Amino acid sequence: MTDLWWKSAVVYQIYPRSFADADGDGMGDLRGIIDHLDHLAGLGVDVIWLSPIYPSPQDDNGYDISDYQDIEPVFGTLEIFDELLAGVHARGMKLIMDLVVNHSSDEHKWFLESRAGKDSPKRDWYWWQPAREGLEPGTPGAEPTNWGSVFGGSAWELDEKTGEYYLHLFSKKQPDLNWENPEVRSAVYEMMNWWLDRGIDGFRMDVINMISKVVPLPDGRLTAGSLYGDGSAGFINGPRIHEFLQEMHREVFAGRDAMLTVGEMPGVTVDEAKLFTDPARGEVDMVFQFDHVWADRGDDPWLLMPLQLTNLKAIFNRWQAGLAEVGWNSLYWNNHDQPRAVSRYGDDSAAYRVASAKMLGTVLHLHRGTPYIYQGEELGMTNYPFRTIDEFRDIEALGQYAQAVDLEGRSPDEVLTVLRARGRDNARTPMQWNATAHAGFTTGTPWLAANPNYPEINAEAARADPDSVYHYYRKLADLRHTEPAVVDGDFTMLLPNHEQLYAYTRRLDNTELLVIGNFSGDSVRAEVDEAWSGADLLLTNLPEAPEDWTLAPWQAVIYKRSLG
Ligand code: GLC
Repeated sequence: MTDLWWKSAVVYQIYPRSFADADGDGMGDLRGIIDHLDHLAGLGVDVIWLSPIYPSPQDDNGYDISDYQDIEPVFGTLEIFDELLAGVHARGMKLIMDLVVNHSSDEHKWFLESRAGKDSPKRDWYWWQPAREGLEPGTPGAEPTNWGSVFGGSAWELDEKTGEYYLHLFSKKQPDLNWENPEVRSAVYEMMNWWLDRGIDGFRMDVINMISKVVPLPDGRLTAGSLYGDGSAGFINGPRIHEFLQEMHREVFAGRDAMLTVGEMPGVTVDEAKLFTDPARGEVDMVFQFDHVWADRGDDPWLLMPLQLTNLKAIFNRWQAGLAEVGWNSLYWNNHDQPRAVSRYGDDSAAYRVASAKMLGTVLHLHRGTPYIYQGEELGMTNYPFRTIDEFRDIEALGQYAQAVDLEGRSPDEVLTVLRARGRDNARTPMQWNATAHAGFTTGTPWLAANPNYPEINAEAARADPDSVYHYYRKLADLRHTEPAVVDGDFTMLLPNHEQLYAYTRRLDNTELLVIGNFSGDSVRAEVDEAWSGADLLLTNLPEAPEDWTLAPWQAVIYKRSLG
């Protein structure tokens, strides 16, 4: 029914550092992944996405790569990688790698060569610029543009040796590659082909809509109270982005089959996404947009906004409608950059954690698009109870804290409250395998503490309990594999103004599915069209089916009917 295989696929993301440690050094590794492949096959996963496993100084946990064609020794070797790949393929799954080419590590040999001197043949592989005209290098405001880095501070770092600055949209150990230079592009394509020839099945492309910059780099808009300008207009969906992705497609993917490519694209609009994912244009198969995970963010980054369900629904509806005819969605609540969904949009209290985790899974997976599960999501893993800033390891949390508290004068409590709820380390605590020390993640000392709730929330317990989130997620994967309406059905949002219920239908030929999720701790009656009385209940997350369309707290239901 569907020509593009990934439409019916379920993807599982592994953050290797936190997944499973086989050698006791406190960091996850490739052997650890090999040991747990059956957990993933048992979940009905089709594709595994590995966050970066390349050699890296680990300034940003591997998103700072110092060699694109090898394996970080802490994680293993190329031989072990081949073994992992074979193990994945033997179970009928595919494996995609993280492609981080907006920037490299400052310890990559390309950058070392580039910074060696102004006349280095690789000087132009990165963004080097002199101080602002009339200002001495290193003096305040002398940076070539006013851009702030995502992790706090200026996006420019002065290199004393040549008196020039280099651009780093992320940490100063992540210098941006200059995609204007054709040599950079062909080096990247060559590397990608090398991995595909080794047998991998595609790439997740890190912040790929930032690789094309506006030249010359323009200053960004300054808002009251902020130290740096917002440079995003100078690098989000830049002028040559489609050209670069089409060239990459021609040089790397054309002529290969069964690939999956997904571009991570902060700030991407629906209209842009349509262009990026139109198969006829040959760019990427799908993108990660951010609107629905930023639905609870206001203009002030240090204010927690409660989720408004109507807003979340409006966002999904816009994306579902926008990509209905052309293009494809990816669907996610969680990844290594987001807090745990059950703590964020669900209710992680003892009473409702399991129900709300299953409800969130139901509502997400039944949309049109390819669903992504982040490690631990299938267990209903929760946010970590961080007490102080010292418990965080994430460069983003530490950098933003320093900027907000030390430079902008925010109160530490205000900033901590937001980091506790939103900080990326919530997703990065060790995967909870069993009830033994450190959740069975390591026999050593974990690089980040395990969530103290592991004796109760862990994979061993979940696999043994037929009512667990794990087995429920398996059913969601099975539905996608067996019910064509889940894959190809039209999407229609119902009850857009309802503040507690999320409801929609999917329709394909004579089959229609009705999905309703209760995003609240109240019992709520859904006003549903008469035509649904007598429909089959395909799945619900609670022991009892709703009576008279009244959903219990955090209940989710999927009904199916045939249209005569
Ligand atoms: C992406 C990654 C994030 C990383 C950043 C810089 O957003 O998902 O973890 O910090 O890019 O590479």
